[in-house]
Amino acid sequence: MSPFLLTRTLPEDATEAALRADVLRGLTDSPKALPPKWFYDARGSDLFEQITELPEYYPTRAEREILIARSGEIAAATGARTLVELGSGSSEKTRHLIEALTDLHTYVPVDVSESALTQAGHALIAERPALHVHALIADFTARLALPETPGPRLVAFLGGTIGNLLPAERAAFLSSVRALLSPGDALLLGTDLVKDEQVLVRAYDDAAGVTAAFNKNVLTVVNRELGADFDAGAFDHVALWDAENDWIEMRLRSRTAQTVKVPALDLAVDFEDGEELRTEISAKFREGGVRTELARSGLELTHWWTDREDRFALSLSVAR
Ligand SMILES: C[S@@+](CC[C@H](N)C(=O)[O-])C[C@H]1O[C@@H](n2cnc3c(N)ncnc32)[C@H](O)[C@@H]1O
Repeated sequence: MSPFLLTRTLPEDATEAALRADVLRGLTDSPKALPPKWFYDARGSDLFEQITELPEYYPTRAEREILIARSGEIAAATGARTLVELGSGSSEKTRHLIEALTDLHTYVPVDVSESALTQAGHALIAERPALHVHALIADFTARLALPETPGPRLVAFLGGTIGNLLPAERAAFLSSVRALLSPGDALLLGTDLVKDEQVLVRAYDDAAGVTAAFNKNVLTVVNRELGADFDAGAFDHVALWDAENDWIEMRLRSRTAQTVKVPALDLAVDFEDGEELRTEISAKFREGGVRTELARSGLELTHWWTDREDRFALSLSVAR
C-alpha cells in the first residue's frame, strides 16, 4: 500500500496570523465581512457534508451526475497521471474521476481542513492501494508549492467553490492555477449556473436549518481561536440573491444592538440592530463568462458539460 502523506505548507501560527488579520480587517470594515474559508474547522466540514445531502442543495447531485457521465471523456482528453484537487473536502465525487483515470499515479488533495483531508485520504488509500495520495493543508488562494509528480497534470476545482471568490480574486486565482500548469495540462472547473432565484435562495436557506448552523459556525471558530464572545443565537442566518452581481450572499444579521469582544485582537465590535456581516458570496455563471475568464488567464475552454436540467456545469480547459 502506498503511504498517505499529509503536508502542512503553512505553519499553524501562519494560519492563526491569517485568521487574526482577516477578523481585524473584516469586523472593522463597513460593511462587515469575513472570508468563507474560516467556516471549515472539523465541525464546519461536517456541516458542509450534511448540506450536500439536503433536498434543496442541488449542486452536489448535479455535479456528480456530470462526473459519472463524463469522467471517461475527461480521462481520455487529459491522460492525467497527477490529479490536484483544490478545496477537495471529502473527495466524495472525485472518486468517479479517480476511477476513470486509469494512468493516475498521484492524487494531491489541497484543503484548509485537516480533518477533511485525513478522512478522505485514508478512505482513498483503502480503496485504491496503489495510488499515491499526497494531501496538502494549504490555502488555494496563496502561492501553492506542489510536490514533484509525473505529468500530465489535471487540476480540479469542483463544487462551484470558485464562486466564493470575488471577481478580482477569481482572476488572480485563475492566473495562479495557470502558473501550476505546463502546456497540455488541464483544469476541470465546476461552476454553478444562473437560474431561478427561488431555487438558488432555497439552496442556501434550507428548511432544516443546516446551512444556518454552517453559517454561524464561523462565529464559533472566532470565539474558540480568538477568545471572542459572539452569541450565535443573537444573529439570524440570511441568504439573498444579488441580481446585479449574479451571486448569492450569505450574511449574519444582528438581532439587536450589541458589542462583541475579541480579546486576542484587543477589539470591541459594535453591531447595530439589524446590521449584517457578510460571510460568503456564491457567484453563479454562464458559459460565455466562464470562457472569457479562463481565456484571460491563458486557459482555453475545450469542453462544456451540464447536467440534464442545466443547473451546473463542468468545463475542461487546457493551458496553451
Ligand atoms: C464548498 S466546499 C466544496 C468541497 C468539495 N470540493 C465538493 O465539491 O463537495 C469548499 C471546500 O474548500 C475548502 N476551502 C475553502 N476555502 C479554502 C482555501 N482558501 N484554501 C483551501 N481550501 C479551502 C473548504 O475546507 C471545503 O472543503
